[in-house]
Amino acid sequence: MKAMTLVGTKTPLELQQRDDLKPNAGEVIVKLKAAALNRRDYWITVGLYPGIKPPVVLGSDGAGVVTACGSGVDPDWSGQEVIVNPGIGWGDDQAVQSNDFQILGLPRDGTFATEVAVPVEQLHRKPTCLTWEQAAAIPLAGTTAYRALFSQGNAKPDDKVLVTGIGGGVATFALQFAVAIGAEVWVTSSSESKIQQAISLGAKGGFDYRQGGWAEQFAAHVGPPNLIIDSAGGAGYATLMSLAAPGGCIVNYGATAGAPESIDMFKLFWKQLRLQGSTMGSATDFTAMLDLVQEHEVQPVIDAVFSLEDTNQALDQMRSSPQFGKYVLKIGTH
Ligand SMILES: NC(=O)c1ccc[n+]([C@@H]2O[C@H](COP(=O)([O-])OP(=O)(O)OC[C@H]3O[C@@H](n4cnc5c(N)ncnc54)[C@H](OP(=O)(O)O)[C@@H]3O)[C@@H](O)[C@H]2O)c1
Repeated sequence: MKAMTLVGTKTPLELQQRDDLKPNAGEVIVKLKAAALNRRDYWITVGLYPGIKPPVVLGSDGAGVVTACGSGVDPDWSGQEVIVNPGIGWGDDQAVQSNDFQILGLPRDGTFATEVAVPVEQLHRKPTCLTWEQAAAIPLAGTTAYRALFSQGNAKPDDKVLVTGIGGGVATFALQFAVAIGAEVWVTSSSESKIQQAISLGAKGGFDYRQGGWAEQFAAHVGPPNLIIDSAGGAGYATLMSLAAPGGCIVNYGATAGAPESIDMFKLFWKQLRLQGSTMGSATDFTAMLDLVQEHEVQPVIDAVFSLEDTNQALDQMRSSPQFGKYVLKIGTH
């Protein structure tokens, strides 16, 4: 098998030739047809992620065909077209993951490879409405968006939702899912062309978060959103707290721009805001997300497709976030 392996931080992944994988008890081997990148992979390569232990094959997202089943696994899985849930060991509590929770692609070898070994519970049948590349684009970002929006944000059709930084892989799913249920969705972005792309996916409109006064314009023309889905944090977080409707909720699944400079406690309690954290999703979230994708025929937004050998190029491009949606790796021929 071939694997793009992290051998150290701040150095390119190494294309390694390895022995083919053999499944342990309860595991399957998936011959990958496609994988996808997440900002997590980028954070790991630059050393900004906890628990980095090279060598490890990065990659949380993948779709492919089951080629081998370990003992205790139903042999009917063999030959099935599958999509892999990268959240391993969530546990029984829907409110929060267990201490054993881990994400495929660190510490366990991941999907930037021609094959991956995973516990059989991580498998779901690949939605037939999706190509291999589309299926691979979904797992981590789709689950994160689903949980932030529905399990934590309790999104409803009559909500006014703001999704910030719409170029992000998770953000595009949040937009598509919120549009799918009939919510009124607005976006922010550093790019006018990304705002236009968001509008073509069903957003009502958007604002440039780099322009001073964008939130005042938003409040004046649109009215305050009662649900904000954000992964930036940073200095702009105070603006989101000002913009949110009284009784509203801001869900954060990331902090790309770092910690907020300040939290206005008066705004927090007087407006009765809910500041809610969210991470990945449980197996229940994953299943519900896949159901939503199939019911509403959500087509994942793929910005570019690279070969496995060009993974470093894709990671490099993530540095300045030019993408709208996901970077995907096509693996093998199909
Ligand atoms: N907790 C979890 O389980 C979880 C899961 C997935 C991701 N995350 C985290 O969430 C963040 C996004 O992940 P991703 O994979 O979707 O990343 P991504 O695809 O690389 O997207 C990054 C986007 O962030 C937006 N952005 C950057 N600075 C911003 C700012 N100051 N204000 C608003 N938006 C800003 C940009 O949007 P524009 O290009 O439109 O300006 C950019 O395209 C990362 O920090 C990631 O680590 C956490």
